[in-house]
Formats: sequence, structure tokens, C-alpha cells
Amino acid sequence: MSAARFQALGKAVRAEWPLDDAYLTVNHGAFGATPKLVLAAQAAWRDRMEAQPSVFMRSILPQALRASAEALAAFLGAEGDDVVFVDNATTGCNAVLRSLALQPGDEILLHGQAYGAVANTARYVAEQAGARIVTAALDFPDPDFAGFASRFAACIGPRTRLAIIDHITSPSALLLPVAEIAASCRAAGVPLLVDGAHGPGQTEIDLQALDADYYVGNCHKWLAAPKGCAFLWTRRDRQAGLHPTTVSHGFGGGYLSEFDWTGTRDATAQLAIQSALSFHERLGGAGLRRRNIALAQEAGALLAAELGTTFGNAGHAVAMAMVRLPLEGVPLTKAYATSLRGRLLDEFQTDAPLHAHPSGIWLRVSAHAYNELDDYAQLAGHCRRLVETI
Ligand SMILES: Cc1ncc(COP(=O)(O)O)c(C=O)c1O
Repeated sequence: MSAARFQALGKAVRAEWPLDDAYLTVNHGAFGATPKLVLAAQAAWRDRMEAQPSVFMRSILPQALRASAEALAAFLGAEGDDVVFVDNATTGCNAVLRSLALQPGDEILLHGQAYGAVANTARYVAEQAGARIVTAALDFPDPDFAGFASRFAACIGPRTRLAIIDHITSPSALLLPVAEIAASCRAAGVPLLVDGAHGPGQTEIDLQALDADYYVGNCHKWLAAPKGCAFLWTRRDRQAGLHPTTVSHGFGGGYLSEFDWTGTRDATAQLAIQSALSFHERLGGAGLRRRNIALAQEAGALLAAELGTTFGNAGHAVAMAMVRLPLEGVPLTKAYATSLRGRLLDEFQTDAPLHAHPSGIWLRVSAHAYNELDDYAQLAGHCRRLVETI
């Protein structure tokens, strides 16, 4: 695989992924897609593990995991000792939320587009302690988006024990003003967890500069690492008292020893991070991220024009575009959106998620290296034909 081969992206690199050509894949944001080369690097680690399981677990894995954390930290503008691997963003957010020592009447601050699984975890820990959830309003589309950071800050109160903000929202693909919100939380002395499930590889990240308290990110999405590769970054002064959801031998031994061993498991997805990072760089690194964002902007404009509707997150520097389907009088429910998504998959061999908002049913399309504008022109045709049947 030469660097020159990657000067052209889209169809020119699609064969690097084991994606099924019978399907139109414009949904990278959901679960990512891992290139063959990175899967091969993971398989090589697995072969090493299975050749001498006990030697691998005791003598190779601890150092290899730390070397992987160092490489990832360099990409994130962080230090390796502040980065631990977790299986996915949900697990990382659970560790932070379930380490809170909440008292009755305490509050956890969320926003109106928080990811369902993370909001559920917050609700679970709040219910256990008699604490409550406070939600800063965030609609989609939001005519007052510019005021969101101040609206969020206004919800911080004397009982707020943790604030949670997404870097990029899941159901609406909005790039939230994390730096402004981190500054408000710091000023109020309230710890901030940034749910960056969609951050690494999609947008720019400099964790030292951001100076939040916790940042959770998925590498399997936009960095195209294997599934099971995610991380938790924790500011030094917050590391004591933070525990993984699975307590094991390292309990009481500090942040790294608690998180680096949570029982016997297959860590090869995490050990393949260096391969994923170098693949990302060979595709262009920052140039690839800018290209994906620009492609999503073009895709959003094209789809909105073809469908005669609106591009709901236009201008947000993300590699996902939200476009409303031209449907009136349909149920604006998750179940209905899921049924249409199933029809797109079954009848049009198209993987594109649909989200129900009070303003309509919205498509969320992703743009990664293997996509090109023609994918969205095809998608527009499929959506038009789908809508004609309704
Ligand atoms: C904002 C956000 N948070 C958390 C998650 C959960 O990620 P995972 O399923 O990898 O735990 C997602 C998944 O899409 C997400 O978009």
C-alpha cells in the first residue's frame, strides 16, 4: 500500500476495507469499519497471544498496552499515563459515573441530545443515590444554538456533581462548544466528562488544551480501529477515586493498574491502535479529516437539494450531515424511523440511519475515506423512491 495510492480517496481506496460491495455504506459513524490491514495487525497480535498465552498475558501485554496508550496519547495531545483503554465509550462513561459518590439531592447535568446509553447510566446512578438529572435544553435543529454554551452553564448549580457534554452529538451530528463549556465548568469547580464517542479521527482533539476532567473516546469509529478499542483520559488530579466498572487485582494500585487489568480478555483490538493510527495518517491524517468534513457538507447540500428539504447541521465541522426526509404526517417516533431504516436496508441495500426529531425524520449520513459524492447522489435516489411509496 503506497502513499501515492491514497492521493485519490473514495472508490480508489474502498478495496482496503472488507465492505460488502452489494451495499451502499454511508453510515461510518455508527460502528466504524476496519480496514483489512488493521484487522491483519490485530490478527498478528492474536496469533502471538495464542502461541504462548501465559507468557503473553504476564510479560508482553502490560508493556504492549502502555506502548499503545503512549501512541494514542500522542495523537490526542495527551500523556500516555493519563490514557487507559476501555472496550467502548459506554464502558468509559460508566466508569466515571459509577465512581461518583453521590448524596441525595445531588445533580448530574446532561443536555437534550445526550446519547441514550450514557443518559441511562446517569439515571441509574442518580436513582441509586436519590440524586437527580438536570437537562440543558438542546433541540434539533436549534434556532438558538449559538446560546447553547451559556444555557448549559446556567444549569450548573450548587449541587451539580458532574456535567456531561458530547463532543459531537449522535442523533443530530452537532459539534458542541466543548472548550467554552469546559471553561464554565472549571470556573464553577464542577467536573466535566466529555463524551467524545465520535471525536477521535473525525474532529481535532488536543486534550491538554481542552483541560476537561474526563474525556471518553471511541477509536473503532472514525479512527477505524477494531471494535473494542476505546479510551478514557483523566486529568491527573481526578485519577484517585476513579475505578473501572470491573474491579480486579489492581484495586488500590492506582489508575493504570486498576484499568490495565480488568480480568483476562482479548486486548488485541487495543494493541492494533498503532496500525489504525498509521493507516489514518497514510490516508492524510488532518487532511483526511478536513476532506471528510468537506464531503459531508457537499453531501448535505446535495441531499437537501435533491429531496427539497433542509440540511440541519450545515456549517458544523463534522463528517456527518443531517438531512430531513420529505415526509409529512408520519409518526415522529423511534420505531417509525427504525422501520424506514430497515426498508432502506432491505429494499435499497443502503445502510443509512434515520432519527426521529419533533421537526421530522432525519437522515444522518457519514463521510469517510471510502465514500465519495456519488454515494450520496445514489442515496438521494433511493430516498426519493422510498418516500414515493409512503
Ligand atoms: C455520543 C455517543 N456516546 C456514546 C456512544 C456509545 O458508544 P459505544 O457503543 O461504542 O459504547 C455513542 C455511539 O454511537 C455515541 O454516539
